[in-house]
Amino acid sequence: MYYSIMKRNPVQHLLPLLFLCFTSFIGPSRFIADAARILVYCPSISKSHVLLCSKYADLLHNAAHDTVLFIPSYYTQLDDFDGAKHAKVWRFQNFTDAYEKRMASFAGIMENSHIGFYDRLTNEVDFWMPMCQDLVNQLHRMQHIVDYKFDIALYNDIDPCNPAVVWSLGIPKTVLLSTEPIMDKIAWDLGLPSLPSYVPSVEENPNHDRMGFFDRILNAYKHFQSIVVHYLQDYHIQKVFQENFSKDFPPIQNIIRNCSVVLVNTDEMFDIPRPISTKFVYVGMLGGAEQTSLPSSLESAFNKGNKGSVFISFGTVAPFNILPKTVQLSIFHAIKNLPDYHFVLKVADGDKNATDMFANVPNVDLVHWVPQKAVLKHRNLKLFVSHGGMNSVLETMYHGVPMVIMPVFTDQFRNAKNVERRGAGVMVGRETVKQETFLEVISKVLEEESYTNSAQRISRLIQSRPFTPEERVLKWIDFVANHDIADQFDLESNNLTLAEINYVDVVSYLVLVPLLVFFFAFRNYFSNFGKQK
Ligand SMILES: *[C@@H]1O[C@H](CO)[C@@H](O)[C@H](O)[C@H]1NC(C)=O
Ligand SMILES: *[C@@H]1O[C@H](CO)[C@@H](O)[C@H](O)[C@H]1NC(C)=O
Repeated sequence: MYYSIMKRNPVQHLLPLLFLCFTSFIGPSRFIADAARILVYCPSISKSHVLLCSKYADLLHNAAHDTVLFIPSYYTQLDDFDGAKHAKVWRFQNFTDAYEKRMASFAGIMENSHIGFYDRLTNEVDFWMPMCQDLVNQLHRMQHIVDYKFDIALYNDIDPCNPAVVWSLGIPKTVLLSTEPIMDKIAWDLGLPSLPSYVPSVEENPNHDRMGFFDRILNAYKHFQSIVVHYLQDYHIQKVFQENFSKDFPPIQNIIRNCSVVLVNTDEMFDIPRPISTKFVYVGMLGGAEQTSLPSSLESAFNKGNKGSVFISFGTVAPFNILPKTVQLSIFHAIKNLPDYHFVLKVADGDKNATDMFANVPNVDLVHWVPQKAVLKHRNLKLFVSHGGMNSVLETMYHGVPMVIMPVFTDQFRNAKNVERRGAGVMVGRETVKQETFLEVISKVLEEESYTNSAQRISRLIQSRPFTPEERVLKWIDFVANHDIADQFDLESNNLTLAEINYVDVVSYLVLVPLLVFFFAFRNYFSNFGKQK
């Protein structure tokens, strides 16, 4: 028998080859047979957010899955925006104006230097409730989604209403998209160990994994806050659905826990190492390798500086005119005193103050919009000054550009600390800014080579990592489509009490039993001892 393979005549050798050719012709039909119906559920809470959803939708669509990007409209400004170039887009409009009202009141946040526990309890716990209330009243308008019989729904966890809506639509399999690094509450929901002694809490927390004694106190406190705030959010959303949808509506935590995998928007070559489980797949910078080109005016702006150029952009949530006056002046001071560098500063359209301020400064160009990835690729760019949003930071690290980051909220503090930890830049605290601050920090990062070297090292690691985020997403979604793995990777910690997880029960037992034995063994002795007295 063994020999038969060796002794085949040439024609026999050809047969398997022919078979291979034949199957590769019919190959594509395998994909069609396996194609899943996939819903990407994505309320329009911000442009960058919708853009990220559309990257998933396009990627899955191009892999022959029947993919729909579904956008409940929170922001009328974004009613024409989807970013999806290929996938189908369905919209759900005219059901709420609550989000725009909330965001308008949110604009004052830049004045507030730190969002504390009290602020979070008063502003954040109920932040998503009005939109969710409006959505639940209109759920009947989503019947077409139920009827379409989707196999898999992708949704994110920023708005705690999302898991509840997706659950109500009765889609059998779910994939959680984490638009930030693994949030404390998601780790908690899925039983993932996150010891605050070395895992930095994600929100409003200027820490990385190397913390001193007081940093660890702060980190534990932030971890606690985060879990309490998000637990309360979930609890309130569950109440809304219990009152308006079904009396037995399950806890949001149980819905989240039942996802098949969590696709995390970060990259292990850059992000702080932490314990994860197989259920968490790092897919940061999806579509990051896409080529975009720079308009010629910008191309020449970035070419101007003798020693290089610097890009300054604080994103759409905190444009230059919203920054505190001291910060604006400090940036102005830095630009004026670094004439060998050319600065490109992103300002809001029609920001007359900025135009006046920089009227007589030769080494700066003000811009309203830039294709950020193309800018980051520019040869002459030496530094990016930003607010440290996750996507910005990942893109910047991908292109090996050092950073100065002045965080505004949520994970931006942690992202900034992460950049410091990797030696690729410096964080500036908004409340510590004085006139000289930006001049000092920008000069330092431009002059000390270590920052550029570290940034470029991370860039090389990211660009040559073993699997691209696109490969990971497609393979895992195929796997989820083909198998039932909702509880395959669940840690048993899900089913244990806090005392059991932390061995409190066992340690108590081990201490108590010898004590009791000791007591009973010597009881006579003790009682005699008592009598003798
Ligand atoms: C939403 O409302 C606006 C104004 O009331 C109307 O013009 C528009 O057609 C509506 N859109 C949908 C999808 O119902
Ligand atoms: C989670 O999955 C389990 C097992 O499939 C199921 O019994 C339970 O009802 C699900 N919970 C929710 C909230 O979907």
